[in-house]
Amino acid sequence: MLSLDNSYSVEDLGDWARRCEKLAGGERFDYVAELKIDGLSLSLIYEDGLLVRAVTRGDGMRGEVVTGNARTIRSIPLRLSEQAVGGARGDGLAGEIEVRGEVFLPAEVFERINREREEQELPVFANPRNAASGTMRQLDPRIVADRQLDIFCYQLLFDGVPAFGKHSRSLEWMRECGFKVNPHYRECQDIAAVIGYCREWGERRDDLNYEIDGVVVKVNQVGVQEDLGSTAKSPRWAIAYKFPARQVSTRLLDVIYQVGRTGAVTPVAVLEPVLLGGTTVSRASLHNDDEMKRLGVLRGDHVFIEKSGEIIPQVLKVIAERRTGEEEPFAFPHDCPVCGTSLVRPEGEAVARCPNRGCPARLREGLLHFAGRRAMRIDGLGEALVDQLIAVRENGLPLVGDYADLYRLRERREDLIRLERMGPKSVDNLLAQIDASREAGLARLIFALGIRHVGERTAAILAAHFEEIGRLAVAGVEELAAIHEIGEVVAASVRDWFADEENCLLIERLGAAGVSMRLASGTESRSRNFEGQQFVLTGTLPGLKRDEAKAFIESRGGRVNSGVSKNTNYLVAGEDSGSKLSRARELGIEGGERGINCLRQFALGSAAGIGSHELPEQVVVVS
Ligand code: IVH
Repeated sequence: MLSLDNSYSVEDLGDWARRCEKLAGGERFDYVAELKIDGLSLSLIYEDGLLVRAVTRGDGMRGEVVTGNARTIRSIPLRLSEQAVGGARGDGLAGEIEVRGEVFLPAEVFERINREREEQELPVFANPRNAASGTMRQLDPRIVADRQLDIFCYQLLFDGVPAFGKHSRSLEWMRECGFKVNPHYRECQDIAAVIGYCREWGERRDDLNYEIDGVVVKVNQVGVQEDLGSTAKSPRWAIAYKFPARQVSTRLLDVIYQVGRTGAVTPVAVLEPVLLGGTTVSRASLHNDDEMKRLGVLRGDHVFIEKSGEIIPQVLKVIAERRTGEEEPFAFPHDCPVCGTSLVRPEGEAVARCPNRGCPARLREGLLHFAGRRAMRIDGLGEALVDQLIAVRENGLPLVGDYADLYRLRERREDLIRLERMGPKSVDNLLAQIDASREAGLARLIFALGIRHVGERTAAILAAHFEEIGRLAVAGVEELAAIHEIGEVVAASVRDWFADEENCLLIERLGAAGVSMRLASGTESRSRNFEGQQFVLTGTLPGLKRDEAKAFIESRGGRVNSGVSKNTNYLVAGEDSGSKLSRARELGIEGGERGINCLRQFALGSAAGIGSHELPEQVVVVS
């Protein structure tokens, strides 16, 4: 797989077009302009219509084989229809078809992954490209399936050569055959039209829900492509027009230290406001003391900052040449900037923490997390209100000193009404939301508690497994770590949290306030995502009794039938499955891993609360 030459200006593009015209020797041609997706390229090989191999670009000659992971990408067809392929090549599915494309992560998925990683205190991915490429190398295809990668296909080869006389026809063919092709490509009669396309997308790139870093321009006629040929590195018939990077330089005015709900102290750069990717940026993350030292930032420095995806801007590097000698060093604080307690930084950890659980900053962030949309969902509890609730009053006490106090606010209605920007109506709304949050359910409650390393998904897995908080509270590390997808770090963190007497007291107080501590019977965290689907079970399902499998499916709204018919959506075929499997195949119910992934996908559940641990891996599902 070759790479592309880059151009950074419309003048460069004009020069390239003139070279093409010269080398084409008078032959007429046009161009196809496509968005340059910022992901990683993948080659998909189909033999006799079946996906047999997926390989990353690697160094161009050799890449990594990632077939299992590629199969989890829903937009990659696992099997091509004979009709579609036969129509194009005349000899049916015989021979090798190669489709190349760019794997990417949709912006909202990238944000979700980073949010989860932040919650689990794992390093966040700097941009969607890194996240996509890290994901493709994952060893566990279930994690890949959960991350919802996507692909846009942009090149087609039959037995190693372009199949059609025009590139635009290849794009159409791929789309007809079920490949995902970016819909924004445009056939352009001349380079002026190409330049118009580049300008247009340079302005519209923020409208897309995936990252693009430029435009790829290709000569449309394959005959002319052949005339132009390639250098050792790149084809002469294509070029990348790169958008200006979303990096700017600005001045670092100061660093402030924010205390999070776990006590983690994060240095944040205060910047001279600067326009970047459509928004004014005045803050950037510096992560921790080690990162500040690595960058070597001084107060007053000029720095480069970058924004990729939707994440908080990052300080990339210091522009040392612009130093005047007036810059001053920063000193990471020894004490909590909010409550003054000495910070603790355990050996081998990058993060310094305030250990004072009564620290107002921790309580503030903790309450905001507890009330958050993905936790107990108390919408009326925003920053301004939380600040007032935790402020110490004349009697020396705040209105709210821990999460359980929220549930006693009804007794303090008069005090609430007197708060700034509150009135009887907004207070009653708030109290109603607090009341309703008692039934938020176990998964949300576990997430809301803010246990280190326990994100939304882990909370859902724990809730589904233990079904009530009392059982989770007494679970040992080994029992926790034995749960599929729960690692030792999470297990130890959960154990430590419940080993703390104050936390147990908090749980008691929440319970006494009427907060539900059990998995709600019915559908909480067990979404009915099999609704309307018909299943047939056959063979032995390792690790799962027939009744359990049936209950699992039915609890999600699916139906289990005894015989395979054309209405069957899924055949869950275990070991030694006999006639039902052949009957399903006869009926043309598509087979193979797609089915497994479908069911895993359901089980992994974008819908809250479904852990893949609920299905043994060995179960073969034919859909
Ligand atoms: S065509 C001979 N089309 O950009 C190379 N590439 O910098 C043919 N890319 O390695 C590549 N979007 O990973 C092509 N619409 C598009 C693309 C695209 C992204 C990537 C691809 C390639 C890299 C070159």
